[in-house]
Amino acid sequence: MFDKISTIKDQIVNFNSSDSNEIEQFRISLLGKKGSITNLFTQFRNVPLDEKKEFGKQLNLLKNLASSKIEELKSNSGSNKATKSTIDFSMTAQPTVLGSRHPISIVKEQIIEIFAQIGFTVSEGPEIEDDWHNFTALNFPEEHPARDMQDTFFINKEMALRTHTSSVQVRVMENEKPPIRTISPGRVYRNEAISARAHCFFHQVEGLYIDKDVSFADLKQTLLYFTKALFGEETKIRLRPSYFPFTEPSAELDVSCSICGGKGCNVCKYSGWLEIMGCGMVDPNVLENCKIDPKVYSGYAFGMGIERIAQLKYQVNDLRLYSENDLRFLKQFKSEL
Ligand code: PHE
Repeated sequence: MFDKISTIKDQIVNFNSSDSNEIEQFRISLLGKKGSITNLFTQFRNVPLDEKKEFGKQLNLLKNLASSKIEELKSNSGSNKATKSTIDFSMTAQPTVLGSRHPISIVKEQIIEIFAQIGFTVSEGPEIEDDWHNFTALNFPEEHPARDMQDTFFINKEMALRTHTSSVQVRVMENEKPPIRTISPGRVYRNEAISARAHCFFHQVEGLYIDKDVSFADLKQTLLYFTKALFGEETKIRLRPSYFPFTEPSAELDVSCSICGGKGCNVCKYSGWLEIMGCGMVDPNVLENCKIDPKVYSGYAFGMGIERIAQLKYQVNDLRLYSENDLRFLKQFKSEL
């Protein structure tokens, strides 16, 4: 009987095949109803008592050996099959489609980069803003039209979607001590009908500089540096008097038209100038509202629309394109940043 066990053991060790039919036949010949191992189990009762223990042990080992060998052969034959039928190693690799950055992100990163060169940090604030940070602290009179339902998306009496990134100015001044030098990029919302020239949301970058003895000349030089870096060395700027509740004096900044170089074209409406941002000296009332002493500190602020800059850089004249996610449009923008 023990001889039989070792014969079968040899058979198992020596058997090899990758053909699944052959393997199945082999399994039946050992473990099937009339298989040699099954047979030994039925003969177990004929084994003399004193050998029963050892025989049982060896027989179980034999059965395990057979099962694991069959499993092993089966899994190899399976993987061989897959290799043969589905993987073609001569096939060329699929090209990977590379994405590109959104034009608004590209311009935003450029602006951040230019201001980082002269020590401006980046700060952010919430898009859902309270009345204090969006209006009151910024010196908006109670009856100012910007507070009107027609311009502002109100969430309730107190909260609204911010209408400009100037709200972040207030947050920074409340939380930090001068000197402050920061820019705040972000999305803003206004209740406007969507058209090629207006949208209910767009992006702005706010700038704020607060220190002792900051003057209008500092503002002018900073903006000249910025516009040259963004549109090219030959760019000229001009400031026109304007009004914002939170700056005094206030101005509108124009750059010489980057498309016609100032000669006049349909983009600059034959004026040679393009308006790109609002700016001014931070109103003393705003400094006071943020617990900064206007007798000690002064500062300037500016705010520009990112879409407006992107429009000029890429000559895209329909604002809606920026939020339609049309791949044919987006694919055209590539950037290092
Ligand atoms: N917040 C103004 C706007 O939305 C822009 C601005 C910012 C003007 C800072 C002056 C100073 O148009």
